[in-house]
Amino acid sequence: MAKPESKPKEKILVTAALPYANGPIHLGHLVEYIEADIFVRFLKLSGRDVVFVCADDTHGTPIELAAAKEKVKPEELIQKYYGEHTADFSAFHVDFDVYHSTNSSENKFYSDLFFKKLTEKGFIYERLVELTYCENDKRYLPDRYVKGKCPKCGAEDQYGDQCERCNSIYQPVDLVEPHCSICGTVPVRKQSLHYFFKLSGFSQQLQQWLDSNRNLQADVKNFVSEWIKGELQDWDISRDGPYFGFKIPGELNKYYYVWLDAPIGYIAATEKYCRDRLDKSAVEAYWQNQNAKIIHFIGKDIIYFHLLFWPSMLLAAGFNLPSDIVVHGHLTINGEKMSKSRGNFLTAKDYLAVAGHEPEFLRFYYASHLTKAVSDINLDFGDFREKINGDLVSNIANFVHRSLVFLNNNFDSKLESLGNEEKFFLQQLQPKCDAVIKHYGDCNFKEAVKGILELGSIGNRYFQENQPWQLVKTDKKKCHKVVSVAAAIVRNLAILSFPVLPKYSEKILRLLGYESTKNLGLGELDKPVPAKKILAARIIFAPIEETISIAHVFPAVLKVGRIEEISEHPDADKLYVLKVDIGSGKQKIIQLVAGLRPHYKKAELLGRNIVVVSNLKHAKLRGFESQGMLLAADDGGRVVVVSPERSQPGDLVYPEGSDQEKIASSRKQLAIEEFYRLNLSVKDEKIVYGTKPLRTAKEIISVDAADDAVVR
Ligand code: 2FM
Ligand code: ZN
Repeated sequence: MAKPESKPKEKILVTAALPYANGPIHLGHLVEYIEADIFVRFLKLSGRDVVFVCADDTHGTPIELAAAKEKVKPEELIQKYYGEHTADFSAFHVDFDVYHSTNSSENKFYSDLFFKKLTEKGFIYERLVELTYCENDKRYLPDRYVKGKCPKCGAEDQYGDQCERCNSIYQPVDLVEPHCSICGTVPVRKQSLHYFFKLSGFSQQLQQWLDSNRNLQADVKNFVSEWIKGELQDWDISRDGPYFGFKIPGELNKYYYVWLDAPIGYIAATEKYCRDRLDKSAVEAYWQNQNAKIIHFIGKDIIYFHLLFWPSMLLAAGFNLPSDIVVHGHLTINGEKMSKSRGNFLTAKDYLAVAGHEPEFLRFYYASHLTKAVSDINLDFGDFREKINGDLVSNIANFVHRSLVFLNNNFDSKLESLGNEEKFFLQQLQPKCDAVIKHYGDCNFKEAVKGILELGSIGNRYFQENQPWQLVKTDKKKCHKVVSVAAAIVRNLAILSFPVLPKYSEKILRLLGYESTKNLGLGELDKPVPAKKILAARIIFAPIEETISIAHVFPAVLKVGRIEEISEHPDADKLYVLKVDIGSGKQKIIQLVAGLRPHYKKAELLGRNIVVVSNLKHAKLRGFESQGMLLAADDGGRVVVVSPERSQPGDLVYPEGSDQEKIASSRKQLAIEEFYRLNLSVKDEKIVYGTKPLRTAKEIISVDAADDAVVR
């Protein structure tokens, strides 16, 4: 059995990759956060001194583009996502010790410090570079502002910095058939003076680190060694303004590239943690102390950044190298890559919205598939249901329940002290517990879960073979010992499954006399169950009746309406106030306020059919209530009202192939952001949701606007 160590505790810092503050947390993200959280909970359970840090990644073009799309400032966007991300993590019991932001004073401080140290040591130089520039938007087009074909593998529609298909890193000017992400124009080339980091000077040290590190995954070492052999290119770490990020000291219009300050965010978050706790062990105790360990969890798409750029920066600035970087594969759903256009894109909130979808079920499912291998993990809904109902509910939860209820009903909830025979039986299970512990330590959660299930089966078998329901009639004392052994197994199952199922375990442990799980340790596995009298057992996990369906219901109730009256808003020169007939419902005539005055005369709109989002939360616009929103396509200046001419007021508008009944019966009130997230856009003069055109029963709706125009 692993015993807590007595020497001064080694400090361990665990990180998970910082999610971009440009969208919601989805089930793909959660693989990593759950994986890292399980590992951290395990280390804490083993008595280790661990801090789990993360933050939102708030800079660069991903954020700028998303902010532009939502028509808000980047600052507003990152604030909004900070709230959403932290709420999602807490819903899935991902328990960071600190969750910070890269847009923070701590991160500015450390970014400048790195830049200064790297400059002083001669690792930074300036060089003229060719950049993509849009003459129409009058700006440079860094990274995601330009799209085209991947120069390495030819994948279509890739960003200017990295290919999502082959993961290679390149420059925007390398893209084949590039176009501006804002206006679609073909960019020209223009020169600018940029700062470069001498990555090429680190080949040897990086290779040495890879060779001497025993924790890194072999596959990952191989990739990275190949890259090093193929010669490393120096790294462009600056971007021209306008850019949302930290300005480089002494520069007027140059900023750090987001990937410079993002990993530094790990250090900034550590600083924030130490400060908030007035912890004497400052940042150096983690980042510049040979007796500390840094462990990063990342996805395979960002290996380049974490195994080449980041360690080189750390070496250059005199900080510790990570002692491990655990790389996981991607999530597929029913065997397919998750994507909006496939309609199988599930956010953390989508999952929680399905009845019976416990956050801990997803944790259990992911844990049962995670090993320390870079392979992808597949969320198959059939398998999900089987794992939950078969393994978690029928094996573990059933054993817990029947054992404790038996004690409640037959022995007044009291536990009996164990004799030698029972103690011996429990001792024989210790190697099984030890194996589970070892697997957790190796990040092999799949085997850890198997070990837990095996213990559950042993418990069930023990219960079954001893037939306490008979024994209670013939030898009550013996029976009491048997079910007390079962209670000890239940306790051990709860402790061993704590990293995966923290809330479930906590509930069980409370029944068994533990006040909290705060200082819970593996040492408890050897001790008697603390309760003299256990509490009344309840059913905690019930089987799943329905399964998540990827064809989740289209959440907007869109209806055809007809404009019956129109007037200018008295206090806003862009707004009209409309009375719209939507055919049916509690209210036949609704009021909308729409910003169409710059685009349409009153006469052009009166009597016209439109499409109304009828389940939007009502809003007040300059004093006038708007009870919905009408759809219009905006292709960057030109605004075209969507007008289904062959349909009638009240007709439902829905994505082709979707379940009309479900949509129409939705009681959901949609927030405007949720509506924007549907990303309705124009393709071949049709309005598409993913790849599905919007239609009524009578027509596929068409609109005279350019491809990729946003519809909102
Ligand atoms: O790929 C991403 O989603 C990045 N936001 C990860 C950053 S991890 C760290 F380096 F900050
Ligand atoms: Zn590619």
